[in-house]
Amino acid sequence: MPMTPRTSKPRPPSGRPPKNQPALKARPATPPEAAPLAADPARMELFAVATPGLETPLADEIRALGHTPDIQPGGIGFTGGWADIWRANLRLRGATRILARIGAFRAMHPAQLDKRARRFPWADWLRPDVPIRIEATSRKSRIYHAGAIIQRFEAAIRDSLGAPIADDAPVTLKIRIEDDLCTISLDTSGESLHKRGHKQAVGKAPMRETMAAMFLRECGFDGREPVLDPMCGSGTFVIEAAEIAAGLAPGRLRGFAFKQLPGFDPQAWAALRTGAATTPPLTFYGRDRDPGAIRMSHENAERAGVGGWTDFQTCAFADLTRPEGPPGLVMINPPYGARIGNKGPLFGLHAAMGEVLRSRFRGWRVGLVTSEPQLARATGLPFRDPGPYVAHGGLKIRLFQTGPL
Ligand SMILES: C[S@@+](CC[C@H](N)C(=O)[O-])C[C@H]1O[C@@H](n2cnc3c(N)ncnc32)[C@H](O)[C@@H]1O
Repeated sequence: MPMTPRTSKPRPPSGRPPKNQPALKARPATPPEAAPLAADPARMELFAVATPGLETPLADEIRALGHTPDIQPGGIGFTGGWADIWRANLRLRGATRILARIGAFRAMHPAQLDKRARRFPWADWLRPDVPIRIEATSRKSRIYHAGAIIQRFEAAIRDSLGAPIADDAPVTLKIRIEDDLCTISLDTSGESLHKRGHKQAVGKAPMRETMAAMFLRECGFDGREPVLDPMCGSGTFVIEAAEIAAGLAPGRLRGFAFKQLPGFDPQAWAALRTGAATTPPLTFYGRDRDPGAIRMSHENAERAGVGGWTDFQTCAFADLTRPEGPPGLVMINPPYGARIGNKGPLFGLHAAMGEVLRSRFRGWRVGLVTSEPQLARATGLPFRDPGPYVAHGGLKIRLFQTGPL
């Protein structure tokens, strides 16, 4: 959704005015400097950054919040005001961050960039007492040097607003110049949203919470069935599932950059945070053969406040037993070659995993996330066609899922 700047008035290709308009008088020697276009704070263009490959489940989440999602590679566009930004940061499980486009203008050369950056109404969007960090990119534009773009914006903000510039600032402004159109966006999230605020301990190859939640969603999990992760590591799938079942907002325990912006209203934010969380009538199970992983999972679950309906036990896959009660979803992120260990023995492990699941988990569904289709196949489980490739720590992983076994 590009924002159309007011800086370049369209002119008829011939240079003559359209028939229904009077002919222009003599052009002034220097055209008047148009004001940079600032966004309407009640209806901003927003962009929820997704893990590439997991745009579709994030779009579903955004739709569930009442917006019309515009799926783009790497994220979802939607429109909204400040309250929508706060809600998106607080509630979306699949977004890495929420960007708000606050303005745009054309910039053909550095002096023009400088002038227009200085005329932007910064005080409407940034606080003079909160340090700012600036990032810039440029594509197919006359101004192409990111360092020079950053310097001009830093000087403009320092001089016209008085806000300090710092590398570790809590607020980041993202400048993008494409086809000579400069767009200004605010990162309203701060730290990546996969950091929920409860995980101090992580294992060897933790899955990001944002990805784990979207894989659960792709498996049709809506909080109303048990989940068991037999190789739970730091407990990511189990804790995400337990939170979803309890109606707990993923962002309830963390801070956000938007709290440092002038549009922030603490009372409205407090009202937004009061959701109806309930203790679910279900248990969410984590197993791992590594006692250290189980200790970590347990501590993470306690910090997340879901310790009451999660159950973590040290257990090798071969000794896995089916929990009592209704069937649900077995969610597995097993070790895979390039990332942990060596691939050879993993074939035997996967064949044994398939055997355990087929014989002891009748009626349960299986979701398996791996970079190795041959390992998924080695389980012998009746997987449907795998989901799209998802980037994970330098590898491309995919979700393989079954119907009820
Ligand atoms: C890729 S990690 C899982 C990471 C986890 N999804 C997280 O977010 O932290 C794989 C886990 O499988 C466990 N594991 C490997 N072989 C196992 C086996 N035979 N039985 C049970 N757990 C096993 C490892 O201890 C490790 O924690």
